[in-house]
Amino acid sequence: MAHDLFEAARTAMARAHAPYSKFPVGAAIRTDDGSVYSGANIENISFPEGWCAETTAISHMVMAGQHKIREVAVIAQKLALCPPCGGCRQRLAEFSDADTKIYLCDEAGIQKTMTIADLLPHSFQTEAIG
Ligand code: THU
Repeated sequence: MAHDLFEAARTAMARAHAPYSKFPVGAAIRTDDGSVYSGANIENISFPEGWCAETTAISHMVMAGQHKIREVAVIAQKLALCPPCGGCRQRLAEFSDADTKIYLCDEAGIQKTMTIADLLPHSFQTEAIG
């Protein structure tokens, strides 16, 4: 059930460090072994040095030794639906299959389900290297 992933993303959003944009975002990833990793956006006074919620969640996943994303939930307090930014689409694609699901959430729960291929068609493939 994906509702727990929405709740993990919403809980993570509460930990956002977003004093500059005042735009908290939360993300949660479920890997193929069923584990859940979450993250929030972490901004910096040197603005370009901040990063996205999805990127924080990916960091937790990789450092736990996991590399296969099955589902992702994303929520932003101030936006009805918050599709991952372009950079995060590429980072998520690195660890996804074409049918990896992306749940766009609001405070009530999952409002829209997409795949990573919907969000990033014709992506740069890891097979292109070596
Ligand atoms: N942000 C995310 O965390 N994820 C996205 O997919 C889009 C943008 C963050 C970055 C920045 O801290 C704030 O939202 C405003 O852009």
